[in-house]
Amino acid sequence: MHPAAHPHPDELKALAEKSRAVKLLPNADRGGPATPLLSVTGLTKHFPLARGAVVRAVDGVDFTVKKGETLGVVGESGCGKSTTARLIMQLLDQDAGEMLFDGELVGGLELPLKEYRRQAQMVFQDSYASLNPRMTIEASVAFGPQVHGLSKNNAITRARDLLAKVGLDPARFAGRYPHELSGGQRQRVNIARALALSPRLLILDESVSALDKSVEAQVLNLLLDLREAFDLTYVFISHDLNVVRFMSDRVMVMYLGEIVEIGPVETLYAAPAHPYTRALLAAMPSMDPDRRTEEAPLAGDPPNPINPPPGCRFHPRCPFAEALCCAVRPELSPVGEDGRQVACHINTPGARHSKAPPALEIIP
Ligand SMILES: Nc1ncnc2c1ncn2[C@@H]1O[C@H](COP(=O)(O)OP(=O)(O)OP(=O)(O)O)[C@@H](O)[C@H]1O
Ligand SMILES: [Mg+2]
Repeated sequence: MHPAAHPHPDELKALAEKSRAVKLLPNADRGGPATPLLSVTGLTKHFPLARGAVVRAVDGVDFTVKKGETLGVVGESGCGKSTTARLIMQLLDQDAGEMLFDGELVGGLELPLKEYRRQAQMVFQDSYASLNPRMTIEASVAFGPQVHGLSKNNAITRARDLLAKVGLDPARFAGRYPHELSGGQRQRVNIARALALSPRLLILDESVSALDKSVEAQVLNLLLDLREAFDLTYVFISHDLNVVRFMSDRVMVMYLGEIVEIGPVETLYAAPAHPYTRALLAAMPSMDPDRRTEEAPLAGDPPNPINPPPGCRFHPRCPFAEALCCAVRPELSPVGEDGRQVACHINTPGARHSKAPPALEIIP
């Protein structure tokens, strides 16, 4: 280029604007369709308490989230679902473990935290707490893009477009404040805000749990539509097993900071392998009287993550517990043909449990 041919300052500004705006466009699939969007290994978070006690909130979990799927996460209160969500979002520092996002180390050179945090967004349960009460909802949605370098005008245009996409007519709603909306409408704003930076991963932690059933259904359908429209991947946390079934492709069952079972939603619900999953599903309210609890609902003490029992953490409540279960922690291992993984000695061929299948014969 001729040295005199400098672009005009206004042109430069426009170019910079454009290049910054490009970062907010949909993201390239770097690792290809077979690479999981999120791959978590050994993720651990212990909260120290007074007098040396420790809450083992998340205790060495391994799982992947495939591109375009919804991974449901279930388990009783306190089993570590929200802590896992906060670790995925890097709102908490893990004590151990690492995460790959589309094949790249989260927080590594190729994927610094700032860029990762744009691509992974979260919607919380409390629709009100996550919005600034003194900002109009249009300004709230536009805020993130502005911080990422979009001009105010462009950010507002984007915000209005997103409000329309989540079913809030900008002409009616853009200038309102959070307290002028219903809970369902506020949660739609939070979804729009989460989408404003073109993320690839959305963590939904009890995001619809506080809503009326009919409003909840509308927001769930909206989430399903948005997943297709924006090429999103979801981690969907809920205590409502019916809702998780409706939303998820695969389900991960947690107990006291560990994963006890993970697999495709239909087969896992039809034939749960882990005694805890079975008890959880048996306790699930069913519309069908024929399907109501044959199995005993969960017995025994509620779980306490401060002093988890040795061996299998579920053994004090498990009807099939034997000596092995009290002593040896079962590993999460593949079971069956559907891609299921289960952490239970009963499901481990050759384990010293009376219900375990015989050891697999190794043919030389
Ligand atoms: N900041 C913290 N300090 C100490 N303990 C914590 C902290 N955050 C969470 N915990 C503890 O870690 C455990 C897991 O909590 P978490 O919020 O992840 O559970 P959860 O599965 O989301 O439960 P719920 O279904 O009630 O939302 C609980 O025992 C909780 O009390
Ligand atoms: Mg929680």
